[in-house]
Amino acid sequence: MTAGEQLGRAQRAQWQSTYEAHPGMYGQEPSAPARHAASFFRAAGAGVVLEMGAGHGRDALYLAREGFTVQATDFSAAGLGQLQDRAREQGLAGQITTRLHDVRDPLPLPDSCVDAVFAHMLLCMALSTSEIHALVAEVGRVLRPAGVFVYTVRHVGDAHYGAGAGHGDHIYEHGGFAVHFFDRVLVDDLADGWVLDEVHSFEEGELPRRLWRVTQTLPR
Ligand SMILES: C[S@@+](CC[C@H](N)C(=O)[O-])C[C@H]1O[C@@H](n2cnc3c(N)ncnc32)[C@H](O)[C@@H]1O
Repeated sequence: MTAGEQLGRAQRAQWQSTYEAHPGMYGQEPSAPARHAASFFRAAGAGVVLEMGAGHGRDALYLAREGFTVQATDFSAAGLGQLQDRAREQGLAGQITTRLHDVRDPLPLPDSCVDAVFAHMLLCMALSTSEIHALVAEVGRVLRPAGVFVYTVRHVGDAHYGAGAGHGDHIYEHGGFAVHFFDRVLVDDLADGWVLDEVHSFEEGELPRRLWRVTQTLPR
């Protein structure tokens, strides 16, 4: 097993045990990027949304309440189980499907089948630069022409950049969680062949985490 595969396996166990120990850890209010994505997706005429790294679903549930049909994926069964429980309680089970999926594998979806993709703090997980490129290519494959992708990532201006154990490729592990801190070159490279609509700086949480919210659109 390569060092990257070992790190990925350890991170999957880390997220699974964290959701088991702290159900609903991000709260039930939607994130600010999800609110932005909902209005951008609506303006683009989107109906079917894929959310990757949905966790326990604070944003998937919000997007469903906003009227979108949501396909939520994550590699933590515990997180997705909590999402399903909340969806049933809120009468949203018919609008949300969940699928256990590791984004290092190809997306289990056909070409051009979704209108929009959302991923809050997923691309900056323990993924190598080449795995991130492969994932964004997969997003482009499953999106319809003119489909929209909104993602957020922690970046090299974050207080935890360089802190903890270094795994190379801008990946640092701190408190058991590994993060790939993005630089602007990577954001621009990932938008190759897309229209880069916006790169917006924002903060979240108490650290605070410093992030970019990136919005990019496929050509027609
Ligand atoms: C920082 S949390 C954000 C969760 C959610 N987007 C939110 O903001 O509430 C990152 C999420 O990505 C998931 N994740 C990390 N690496 C993953 C991978 N390789 N494949 C699928 N999901 C992954 C974790 O289980 C976790 O739910």
